[in-house]
Amino acid sequence: MSTARRLRLPDIAYGGDYNPEQWPEEVWAEDMRLMREAGVTMVSVGIFSWALLEPSEGVYDFTRMDRIMDLLHDHGIAADLATPTAAPPAWFFAAHPEALPVDRDGRRLWPGSRQTFCPSSPAYREAALRIAGAVAARYADHPALAMWHVHNEYGCHNPACYCDTSAAAFRVWLRARYADDLDGLNHAWGTTFWSQWYGDWDQILPPRATAAPPNPTHRLDWRRFCSDALLSLCTAEREVLLRAAPDVPATTNLMVLRTFDALDYWRWAPELDVLSNDHYLMSDDPEAELDIALSGDLMRSLAGGPWFLMEHSTGAVNWQPVNRAKGPGEMRRNALAHVARGADGVAFFQWRAARAGAEQWHSAMLPHAGTDSRIWRDVVGLGADLKALAEVRDSTVDARVAVVWDWDARWALELPSQPSGELRYQDLVRDWYTPLWRAGVAVDFVRPDDPRLDRYALVLVPSLYLVTEAAAAGLARFTARGGTLAVGFHSGMVDENAHVHPGGHPGAFREVLGVVTDELFPLLPGERLGLVGDVPAGATADLWSERIRLAGARSVATYADGPLAGLPAVTRHRHGDGTAWYLATRPDPETLAALLHRIREEARVAPEHPVPEGIEVVRRRGEEAHYLFLIDHGGKGADVAAEGVELLTGTPVAGVVTVPPGGVAVIREPC
Ligand code: GLA
Repeated sequence: MSTARRLRLPDIAYGGDYNPEQWPEEVWAEDMRLMREAGVTMVSVGIFSWALLEPSEGVYDFTRMDRIMDLLHDHGIAADLATPTAAPPAWFFAAHPEALPVDRDGRRLWPGSRQTFCPSSPAYREAALRIAGAVAARYADHPALAMWHVHNEYGCHNPACYCDTSAAAFRVWLRARYADDLDGLNHAWGTTFWSQWYGDWDQILPPRATAAPPNPTHRLDWRRFCSDALLSLCTAEREVLLRAAPDVPATTNLMVLRTFDALDYWRWAPELDVLSNDHYLMSDDPEAELDIALSGDLMRSLAGGPWFLMEHSTGAVNWQPVNRAKGPGEMRRNALAHVARGADGVAFFQWRAARAGAEQWHSAMLPHAGTDSRIWRDVVGLGADLKALAEVRDSTVDARVAVVWDWDARWALELPSQPSGELRYQDLVRDWYTPLWRAGVAVDFVRPDDPRLDRYALVLVPSLYLVTEAAAAGLARFTARGGTLAVGFHSGMVDENAHVHPGGHPGAFREVLGVVTDELFPLLPGERLGLVGDVPAGATADLWSERIRLAGARSVATYADGPLAGLPAVTRHRHGDGTAWYLATRPDPETLAALLHRIREEARVAPEHPVPEGIEVVRRRGEEAHYLFLIDHGGKGADVAAEGVELLTGTPVAGVVTVPPGGVAVIREPC
């Protein structure tokens, strides 16, 4: 929230998605009373109201929304008012069946759910901007309005459409990317391969289902185009809102979480005044708290400071095979863990549990059971907690470690026809993030071409299959000037067109790492090799190996067995005044932790604060105080050395604070 248009609310904002249109008006008064009881300060309204606001084309009915906005204002609750464009009404599709999206197999989808539109449809764009404009004109000066909520989760259900309209839009995008040079595109896509050469722009189609593996660069450009197509809808709506209300900040709820990869949020972030995120736990993730931390750090990095948690859940969701409820204290730990990573607003999907519709089994702040429920008591408790933490707002985390994160590299790594289909970008990054999280080391995420890497002592590149020469040169420069760099396997392999960097792997990083790989040996699922050398006894590795020749680096660990027995698996290279490490395989978690510990010590990066195992630690730094967050995930609680005042209980801390089992402590420390 670092732009001129800031969200100006006192305290840490608290609330959720509010859908009063699903309820008779008698219920609204109870909503207001209970929102106040829970300490709710802001709700998102109108997200799915298009059919009510514009019951037929060009005919508006704002009576209900007027009452809702007034009611919120009367009760001192701010509105995060949405443009309702994520769910076009039935009349729209009746008039524009061509705006329904088509999947890769050529199947056109049907209305009857939400977000079932083609992102490149001119009819959709026109209708969306029209309703956005009408909402903006009606409420720009409403006193309840605090922020615009543009659309809802762009790309959640329609990240790509393969229809002919999308094909035409793709061509326009390609002509811009390749400056109208079809030869340039043919070269970039390597179309001499398999006779894929294009003689006319009109021959280019979306990467629809094919009999044999698709062209990788075609796929990659398609993913870039799909992200940009949705971004252009977002910025178009935002411009409409800005024209009506130049001082009101706008956000759209991103999905920085494990399962979503459709949008390049580095490109989205600069277009938004407030960055907000929707985060849900996956029931099959045994350490979901890691995903909260990772996505929170990524959000803070995208925002360049504090951000807003627009949605998470009080309990179970409705969209996983089995929807796990949260255990005692888990909802509070989750919410405060987001705050620890920089969230200055905490909101849920949703305020009141729906009785009908596809989300009737989704948890809410006010469950079906009503106020005599654990969830409600926890919701009220969390409201009080956030009030107690009000002063934390605007403070941020100061990291000396940067982890390189890149959507282009993610998309490219997961293209078909890779040496191994077992590589998952998010998992590779999380492998490296985990030991830092356990050790309590503060981490930022950066783009590969970040021009200010020198503010970090250590830059980690867990996975960067695709990298431009310029970005690789920036990382090498950082190292030469005295930084410590660590790079994971299968990085530096291809350029922005997904062409192999020639001359041996790892291509763009060969020189800085001081190694040359002449052949890749990915490992089969379940295959595990021993590692020996400067690694813990019994160290192993899986997933990947490669035949390395040292070209300046020295070996830290070698394979104990397998086809590469005796050859280097981990290397270290002095490059200029700095050091570059290469992890050419995936060490087991203990070995990876030991290596990263050593690398971190070499870079002189210490944990934020000494804590026992099971305690997550983060420090937010403000101008007048620091805030030490201690979160117990181990279930045992712990005594931790600290000085200051514990804000959740308001008790002074002189020397030691007790973090209760499964609980949280936040200490205001003098700075
Ligand atoms: C998303 C959407 C919400 C709701 C929740 C359910 O985050 O934005 O409208 O569907 O999922 O978890």
